[in-house]
Amino acid sequence: MKVITARKYGTPEVLRLEEWETPSPKKNEIRIKIYNTSVNSADWRLRKPDPKLVRLFFGITKLRQPILGGSISGVVDAVGENVTKFQVGDKIFGSTGLRMGAYAESICLPESSVITILPKEMSFPEGATLPFGSLTALDFIQKCNLQKNQTIIIYGASSSVGTAAIQLTKHFGAIVTAVCSKGNFELVKSLGADFVMDYEGFHSESHNKTYDVVFECVGKSSIPSNLKHLTKGGVLVLVGASFKDMFQAAWISLTKKINIKFGPIAETLENLNFLAELTKNGTFKVVIDKSYPLEEMVEAHLYVEAGHKKGNVVINITV
Ligand SMILES: NC(=O)c1ccc[n+]([C@@H]2O[C@H](COP(=O)([O-])OP(=O)(O)OC[C@H]3O[C@@H](n4cnc5c(N)ncnc54)[C@H](OP(=O)(O)O)[C@@H]3O)[C@@H](O)[C@H]2O)c1
Repeated sequence: MKVITARKYGTPEVLRLEEWETPSPKKNEIRIKIYNTSVNSADWRLRKPDPKLVRLFFGITKLRQPILGGSISGVVDAVGENVTKFQVGDKIFGSTGLRMGAYAESICLPESSVITILPKEMSFPEGATLPFGSLTALDFIQKCNLQKNQTIIIYGASSSVGTAAIQLTKHFGAIVTAVCSKGNFELVKSLGADFVMDYEGFHSESHNKTYDVVFECVGKSSIPSNLKHLTKGGVLVLVGASFKDMFQAAWISLTKKINIKFGPIAETLENLNFLAELTKNGTFKVVIDKSYPLEEMVEAHLYVEAGHKKGNVVINITV
């Protein structure tokens, strides 16, 4: 099978096409013929690595798992003898989690993975791009205990996480202000944002409105500038918090008793199924910006790392 590997850390050019043996499923595993995967911010951060601490967890001198990619859609083409949940021919989508390995024509995963049946209302490209940003947005929204008619401001609303967060917070009945570049105003309005604001507007002296939830998706605005817009008793969400942000947030939480949510999310099957249901009934649609063939992974990484994608980038593996 064709795979894309990163045999060393570095620029997108370290990504190479290789031929590997197609794996066979263990007793509790299914093998998936991958139709699509996605490239997201986690992929380029691991490849680079950024932050450097990535090396501690994923390999000091090189990635222990050289095949990146955490989201897939495809068709089950073999099952282990103990598998009960899936059968050959099932169309599925989901996350490979920390195992990664999605930049490949095939992958074997335990049937207990965060993987579910692809609804007929969802395309394979949508299935492969949904898990990353949407599971992240949903997990953080759940941590906020967002109530109907509460106000939320989403900073970096055109990102993978942001485009999902707009739709989900509208679904839960919030009043949503989306902060993004002017060029993305139409996109975020089409996703349901009640109000739009550009970055200059957010940081301007005259912007002194406060919100029940400040949802910072991209790690680009400072904690003090976010706190300025937080209603007393509100929740600040730092989806893209750096380690420095995390220390600062923990200190502020402790000393000023402000509710700040940050850190890694828990990807759950329950949430994946919830998002599949919302897609089925037309409430949710993942945003796809560009697509690339597997062989153009370097170009896809260059585009995603530049930091201006709208929603998600998909990779076509089986066409
Ligand atoms: N905590 C977790 O478990 C978790 C999980 C997933 C992701 N994350 C983090 O969440 C963050 C967002 O990930 P993502 O994949 O959703 O991002 P993304 O899609 O790659 O973000 C791209 C978007 O960011 C916007 N952007 C770029 N520079 C900006 C700036 N200076 N100010 C505001 N917006 C700017 C761009 O809009 P313009 O083109 O208009 O600039 C673009 O639409 C990343 O830091 C990622 O590491 C954390």
